[in-house]
Amino acid sequence: MVVKIGILGLGTVGTGTVQILQDLVGRHHLLQAIEIQRVGVRSIDKPRAVELHPDLVTTDLHSIVTDPEIEIIVEVLGGIEPARSLILTAIEHGKHIVTANKAVIARFGDEIFTAANQAGVYVMLEAAVGGGIPVIQPLKQSLGVNRIQRVTGIINGTTNYILTRMTVEGGEFADILADAQKLGYAEADPTADVDGLDAGDKIAILASLAFGGRIKRDNVNCEGISKIGAADIAYADKLNFVIKLLAIAERVEDGAVSVRVHPTFVPKDYPLATVNGVYNAILIEGEPLGQVMLFGPGAGAGATASAVVSDLVALVGVIQSKPSREDVVNSPNTALHPLLSCSHDRYSPMAPLSSLRSSFYVRFSCMDVPGVIGELGTCFGSHHVSIESIVQTGFQGDRAEIVVVTHDVSESDFSSALAEIKQLDAIASIPSIIRVL
Ligand code: NDP
Ligand code: HSE
Repeated sequence: MVVKIGILGLGTVGTGTVQILQDLVGRHHLLQAIEIQRVGVRSIDKPRAVELHPDLVTTDLHSIVTDPEIEIIVEVLGGIEPARSLILTAIEHGKHIVTANKAVIARFGDEIFTAANQAGVYVMLEAAVGGGIPVIQPLKQSLGVNRIQRVTGIINGTTNYILTRMTVEGGEFADILADAQKLGYAEADPTADVDGLDAGDKIAILASLAFGGRIKRDNVNCEGISKIGAADIAYADKLNFVIKLLAIAERVEDGAVSVRVHPTFVPKDYPLATVNGVYNAILIEGEPLGQVMLFGPGAGAGATASAVVSDLVALVGVIQSKPSREDVVNSPNTALHPLLSCSHDRYSPMAPLSSLRSSFYVRFSCMDVPGVIGELGTCFGSHHVSIESIVQTGFQGDRAEIVVVTHDVSESDFSSALAEIKQLDAIASIPSIIRVL
């Protein structure tokens, strides 16, 4: 039985997907059922790395998502619009969706999954998080039998590449970012990566699967890496840490979940500390399993296409078995395969960052005058922030640098202390504030 698919987008991931589908020897036998019916692009005349019959390629994407012969739409356009509208139109027309688009799922997952459940179709998104690393289906199935406590990921390759080079070479953020753009590792507009927003989209998706409730994307706190300096990297190294951009989703008290992205001092012997370059890794902690770490290429044509095609195989398997789509439409939610569909019907309560406890590293730039360390100690102490160490590390120009590492303290006490410290005459600026794992 042939299953016809439409592909929206023939860029990095779309091309990788077509390459796998045009070269089936040695791959999963179910792929032989797939036939590419149409491929949608923006510029019809652009040279392509794959050969497709010209009649297959079109700029009319609406005609693809409404084509009655197509059963599965692969959305690899990126961005919010027209991706969101095309996905919703495809669902309305009874098509299953495979997408790599974390931005659209993290923001419009509720609308998209509700529409899919009503229409009796599946929305598959293995490629949206961790590129080629299988993490979505494991969280839905094998790992989901555990009571998951925490998911911690390095899930943005661009920032991990920059931090790794800063660690290995000792350079500054802006110089290495510029180099990464020249080498094609970072996008022309790297804002979403550098500011932690891409990792925020991905951890929102992982948190919804791990904790069985939808996540309001606006409640995911995202902090990027642009303020990290060579001095912070060097200081972390002296203390036996490396700095990583961690995306963390964890259960806290009263069933609430905390979902956040921030640079973090990670002990050198922690499992994620040795994940370097553009690689991604996701550490999942649950009961009774303990820790499982999934590691692999988090981006790139072949790796991401592998995840896209794995979703296609799962859908072909479902399409080729009973029940038929008509059965599913007549009895949505009960007839959908429970391991592939989205069964969340509520949002998870979320804990604000201010309710958490963390240990902090802070680098102050100050006047080299007597009593500064004493003033800092007094401000922290009066807000119940206990200090583990306080050291004057050297000078940047005529400014002294003081580094403070706190014990585990309340985030809100720490913020109040910092607000007071910023008013001190001797404090010129606070170049870095980084949480310590
Ligand atoms: P690209 O920019 O390489 O490709 C996008 C494709 O979509 C192009 O073929 C482009 O057409 C087409 N396109 C974009 N907008 C429109 C439009 N309005 N109308 C018609 N065609 C359009 O993106 P990627 O392949 O890198 O990314 C695709 C998705 O996969 C994104 O959601 C991304 O976040 C996700 N992803 C990407 C990874 C990667 O390594 N690249 C890794 C994991 C996920 P044309 O070619 O004519 O310009
Ligand atoms: N820009 C993303 C990254 C691509 O750097 O990880 C993969 O989603």
